[in-house]
Amino acid sequence: MTRCAEEHFYYHNHTLHVENVCLHTAMQNIETPCYVYSITAMRDQFQLFKNALSCLPRTRIFYALKANSNLSIIKHFSDLGAGMDVVSVGEIERVETATIPTQDIVFSGVGKTTEEIDIALSKEIHCFNIESIEELELINQRAKNLNVKAPIAIRVNPNIEAGGNDKISTGRLTDKFGIDAPTARQLYINNHQYEACIFKGVAMHIGSQITDISLFDRAYRFLAAYAKELAAVEGITLTHIDLGGGLGIAYDQTHIDSVSIQEKKQAVTQLLQDYSDVLKNNFLHFPNEIHFEPGRFLTGNAGLLLTRIIRNKINQEKHFVIVDAAMNDIIRPTLYDAHHSIHPVTASIHSEKHVVDVVGPICETGDFIARSISMPSKEACGDILAIFSAGAYGSVQSSSYNSRPVIAEYAVQNMHFNCIKHAYTVKEQLEKEKQVHFSI
Ligand code: LLP
Repeated sequence: MTRCAEEHFYYHNHTLHVENVCLHTAMQNIETPCYVYSITAMRDQFQLFKNALSCLPRTRIFYALKANSNLSIIKHFSDLGAGMDVVSVGEIERVETATIPTQDIVFSGVGKTTEEIDIALSKEIHCFNIESIEELELINQRAKNLNVKAPIAIRVNPNIEAGGNDKISTGRLTDKFGIDAPTARQLYINNHQYEACIFKGVAMHIGSQITDISLFDRAYRFLAAYAKELAAVEGITLTHIDLGGGLGIAYDQTHIDSVSIQEKKQAVTQLLQDYSDVLKNNFLHFPNEIHFEPGRFLTGNAGLLLTRIIRNKINQEKHFVIVDAAMNDIIRPTLYDAHHSIHPVTASIHSEKHVVDVVGPICETGDFIARSISMPSKEACGDILAIFSAGAYGSVQSSSYNSRPVIAEYAVQNMHFNCIKHAYTVKEQLEKEKQVHFSI
């Protein structure tokens, strides 16, 4: 039976392990902060997701590589059979660099430039997900100029509130995404006016970190009825329906023991069962291939951010645990008030707990990783803490703010602990900057 991501992170002899690798040992000569991923956990999440789709006859997964675009990781998903959902020419370059066929690319995003459109057309990508009439007209024009056909799907905005947070809800008409349903219908009906475009599908993506499956049900029911209606119109032939991504994960990893790991497994099994039921109810009898763009679900719980304690600072009000990771390494707590559970790599056996704020060295109060959490009071300078569920929207959202390095990434697979991205050091950043500075 396939395992879930959480099962690959556990304590053995009071030390945190990833797969079968002891992090205390692995980190002896490695600098913190750094990201550590379990490749097997990602594979298992992929398999779980795929199993949930098996209720439908024809499906295809396009990994949303914005969640974690490390070359080793995207190559791994491609090897498992996934296509790639990209949002920039930079992501297309990643796909190519990982030697993944560009024909497996779906290109989403509201701001595709003329240059990006031309590049995507020349690479013969699988499909453009169109976000506005203006974009449709431009793609049609560019395809005509290049004497090629542009495969497209219109991203329909269903005007539904969904997503774990206002900033990551995308399916309302007040959001910048997609085209409202009546306008999009008119575009499908008039598809002959866009003679260089092939209207292959219809797409939707309502938001991210969605764990309330009834929201998917609402949106999918809407899209199923919409696509059925379109298919009945003469001159419209759809070959696929793209349901986007958005399936959420559990961020609360308060307990890391065999009982809670089993509970998490049950929870994720239930979530996927409910998701699968929704898919079956809405799309079982569809002739079209159903596409998905998951990101977070595949990588989120498969990654840790490891950080060393620099100092314990206690004032009249608070106990601050100052660590060497900061908001430039993981912006999610600052940006979305996201909760990431934190556990020591080496667990103290009988230590009382204290309520602390875990904060970084960056010069603003918003630089925190967790606030008012309970931690063993024995944690000392030099001890390593693991910030959980950091495998999605972690490293990809990092920056060099406060002239800090963009940190390294490591992967565990089959007992091996390998570097999959070196840090972009401050020295390297300065080299780049000096080149320009000295040439003017
Ligand atoms: N497809 C489209 C068109 C998207 O915009 C996204 C995510 C996905 C698929 C993948 O969604 P997922 O399965 O990962 O939920 N930075 C935020 C998340 C932003 C999500 C943006 N779009 C965070 O850290 O929570």
